[in-house]
Amino acid sequence: MKLDRRSFLKTTLASCATAAVPQLALAKSSEGFLELKAANGKAHLYGDKGGASDLWLYNNRLPGPEIRVKQGEKVRVRFINELDEPTSIHWHGIRIDNTMDGVAGLTQPAVKPGDSFDYDFVVPDAGTYWYHAHNMSWNQVPRGLSGPLIVDEHKQLFPPETDITLVLSDWRLDEDGVLDTASFGAMHDFFHAGRLGNWLTVNGVSLPDIAMRTGVWHRVRLINASASRILDLAPERFGARVIALDGQVFSEPRDVSGVVRLAPAQRMDLVMRPTKTGTLPLEMMTGQPFTFANFQVTEAQGSDLPLTLPPVNRLPEPDLEDALELPLVMQGGAMGGMRSLLEDRTEEDVRSMMQDGQFWTFNGIPGMQDQPMFSARRGETVVLESRNDTSFAHAMHVHGHHFRVLARDGETLEHQDWRDTFTTDPRETVKIAFVADNPGKWLIHCHMLGHAASGMMTWFEVS
Ligand code: C2O
Ligand code: CU
Repeated sequence: MKLDRRSFLKTTLASCATAAVPQLALAKSSEGFLELKAANGKAHLYGDKGGASDLWLYNNRLPGPEIRVKQGEKVRVRFINELDEPTSIHWHGIRIDNTMDGVAGLTQPAVKPGDSFDYDFVVPDAGTYWYHAHNMSWNQVPRGLSGPLIVDEHKQLFPPETDITLVLSDWRLDEDGVLDTASFGAMHDFFHAGRLGNWLTVNGVSLPDIAMRTGVWHRVRLINASASRILDLAPERFGARVIALDGQVFSEPRDVSGVVRLAPAQRMDLVMRPTKTGTLPLEMMTGQPFTFANFQVTEAQGSDLPLTLPPVNRLPEPDLEDALELPLVMQGGAMGGMRSLLEDRTEEDVRSMMQDGQFWTFNGIPGMQDQPMFSARRGETVVLESRNDTSFAHAMHVHGHHFRVLARDGETLEHQDWRDTFTTDPRETVKIAFVADNPGKWLIHCHMLGHAASGMMTWFEVS
């Protein structure tokens, strides 16, 4: 299935909607908890000309409401499940107390229909994060269960109208522009690149306009909430510089030429100061540039302030001299990946893995086991050398910790950025390091959610 406006857009688009940046539409209970309710809902993903899709939404919004707190403050959310199935909420990228990590079956029992759960945790780092369902994620997230979580610096550097959050989501729509729900969970997708869509929305809206002003610095926070779609973006084409990845701000803005990948679950913060009025398209660069939003720049009213970057978060620096070094080898999947599984197994074994819908492995083992993949002492540095022996790219997420990406294919990187999700191409080797400083049980999984459901999910323990 291809993302192709020419074949998909049979009728002209209705007048472009403006992406209403989701607002804080959260009622506070008497004990100071924000209420977040998951329930069935509807939205027109394909603009006014498309039908209404059946979705699962937080507070009846797509994406879920933006939760915004200051660094060091507490997020207190009373989560109420009005869906027909159990669910939980994970706070992606937050270095969180383990009991609040929201992984159903590992850090808490899933919240049953009609039940509620109080999330109450401190956010140690400023930056762009997000929250999403973490039970049967392959089914719940791409039906709409995600939203932005923005942690503001102590000092406000970008006034609200210049601080823009854009949640990017990929959908598989049918000819009526309605979400194709029948194909959820298709093993063929999981066996290949994951469930890919054919349509993109920004803050739940099809091809929105995003208002900007000349001569003013804007911060644009991009969140890829897609289940599988890697978005190839080119910030330099609209004059933007990168200032943060996965919530962690750089010490200097970075000019990036060419394409920057934003894999599922990854975030990228940009800064831009448009110089002239007009339209700047936000494009996906896979194949022909495909515009999925437009920055509409008008004349500024205010004065132009210089760019000041937020301070970097202080994260524990890995000690590479004294580290627990481990491999993380990925195998399985379609297009030759099954061959690697046969190294340690009979054909019979592989056939039965296929039948169980478990056909991806980490270090030869498919899916969650009773025992962790490894245990680390609290404060110990962990170095993972991940080797992608599959024919597909993956987006690997480590819960509860940010890591530095040290090297790719043995080459030390110029920028060893802090991330919580790294990409890996077929045949690539990626080396990461982090300090296991947070006690508890933490997942490592591919954020292509179908891959996670079919084997690419494991866990480690910090004690
Ligand atoms: Cu954003 Cu385990 O996930
Ligand atoms: Cu994957």
